[in-house]
Amino acid sequence: MRTIKILMGLACLVAVVGIGFIAWTVLGRDPIHFAKGPRVTLAAYTGPSVTGAPPDLAHADLVMRGEYLTRAADCQACHTTDGGVPFAGGRAFKLPFGTLFSPNITPDQATGIGAWSDAEFLRAVHKGVGRGGKPLYPAFPYAAYTLLTDDDVLAIKAYLFSVKPIHAVAPENTLVFPFNQRLLMTVWSAMFDADTRFEPVADRAPEWNRGAYLVEAAGHCGECHSPRNLFQAIDNRKKFAGAVADGWRAYNISSDKPTGIGSWSEAQLASYLTNGHAAGRGSPAGPMREAVDMSLAHLTPGDVKAVVAYLRTVPPIADPALPATLAGPAPASAAKGPDGNPHGKALFAGACASCHDWTGSGALTANATLTGARAVNDPSAVNVVQMILTGNHDLVGKTQAYMPAFGPAYTDLEVADLANYVTARFGTAGRPIGPADVARFRQLR
Ligand code: HEC
Ligand code: HEC
Ligand code: HEC
Repeated sequence: MRTIKILMGLACLVAVVGIGFIAWTVLGRDPIHFAKGPRVTLAAYTGPSVTGAPPDLAHADLVMRGEYLTRAADCQACHTTDGGVPFAGGRAFKLPFGTLFSPNITPDQATGIGAWSDAEFLRAVHKGVGRGGKPLYPAFPYAAYTLLTDDDVLAIKAYLFSVKPIHAVAPENTLVFPFNQRLLMTVWSAMFDADTRFEPVADRAPEWNRGAYLVEAAGHCGECHSPRNLFQAIDNRKKFAGAVADGWRAYNISSDKPTGIGSWSEAQLASYLTNGHAAGRGSPAGPMREAVDMSLAHLTPGDVKAVVAYLRTVPPIADPALPATLAGPAPASAAKGPDGNPHGKALFAGACASCHDWTGSGALTANATLTGARAVNDPSAVNVVQMILTGNHDLVGKTQAYMPAFGPAYTDLEVADLANYVTARFGTAGRPIGPADVARFRQLR
């Protein structure tokens, strides 16, 4: 009898803890919870407008304002294949349980969104519900876009309706059961899509609120830079503490000094986000390069300042996997530096030193400077391997210099040896990468 009572007591305790944990996860925190101050609705906010296109475009027409906002929200990145027509869709999102493809969002009547009404478009972007009530996967970051005002979403629609309609149907998704059950997404969005518009924090400056709108509602930085909870929703308790995005490490961008961006200067941040390089901090690569080329580089200087001002205030969270200090320049002489990896060194001499120099300062362009870059100071070497495999994309024809992909030409062993040499010479060597690790990364492509 006593044992049964104890067991029942324990079962109740487990149930309460379980329910408590789920409630704690679901209730989460909204993205600007950390600011603590009182919120006001946009209608009640008296300062200069913090939504919409910036004042520089005050007199521009709806389509031009929409173009600016479409860029700020980076709709193009996901809705375009490598080298494909912008917004025509078909880009693959490889998930552990299959592949999801982005749809065509050009105004083609039959295969795009040409027949969508304003209400249908608003419902998709704010609530993740497509035409005919189709629940959408959160790979489409509607839980961030839900903060965009109706006016801004409709300006984006006006711009998308101004581009050339393309007849294109994305490949069928290959998600396995139960992930192919769209109805599950209804549950997900009920739990994690707040379905509320942006509310400024009354006691913060207009610039901060503008930055918050650009970062949280449009730029969806947290989609890549914040860890996720058990249900794959963003965990704002670890806001911007770093995560993995498309197989790349999207580093800590909280204001932690050693492992986040707390010790970056304003100028370094602005330059990284818009010029594709920051002196002493390296250059964005992979998914971040896309965000810079397609989105951030098109923001006005005022908006970039606002983004930086907002980022600065995100509370510090340390990433224990990153070293506290960045390695300095490597010796100028090829003869000096790490030995014990002659194969990696020989490959570096043949394929890399011409652009990166033996010191790690870019030989041809400052963009190729490796000294100070987080990627080479990350002991996991994940982004170094990814960069060797994929190189840079010259996405919008405005890239000054770009790195070729070495994935097709090199074996897994060659890539591993190179990556180990690069981290040892320019940064923080960790556990050496092996060919099997490289094979795993190739599979993510
Ligand atoms: C991070 C990637 C990503 C970004 C950024 C993104 N989308 Fe999408 N979007 C997707 C994916 C993936 C789907 C398909 C979801 C599904 O099949 O359930 C989608 C679906 C859609 C749909 C539904 C279309 C249909 O045929 O059902 C619309 C509309 C849409 N996106 C518009 C936009 C707009 C507007 C923006 C910018 C404000 C945007 N997307 C930004 C990935 C993205
Ligand atoms: C699609 C995913 C993605 C999105 C969206 C994204 N980032 Fe990144 N970000 C990355 C990746 C991956 C890296 C690492 C790049 C590298 O190693 O070169 C990175 C690097 C950075 C860095 C440099 C960190 C360091 O220590 O070197 C900053 C700063 C940054 N991102 C800011 C932002 C901001 C601000 C936004 C939103 C406006 C944003 N990112 C949106 C993926 C993303
Ligand atoms: C044609 C010039 C060129 C060559 C050759 C080249 N690179 Fe690069 N590399 C660049 C540029 C430019 C960047 C800066 C990234 C950017 O602008 O997006 C870069 C960036 C990098 C990064 C930083 C990635 C990150 O996540 O921040 C690494 C690591 C790297 N290169 C390694 C190599 C290795 C290893 C080789 C030889 C196999 C090589 N590079 C060959 C031009 C080159």
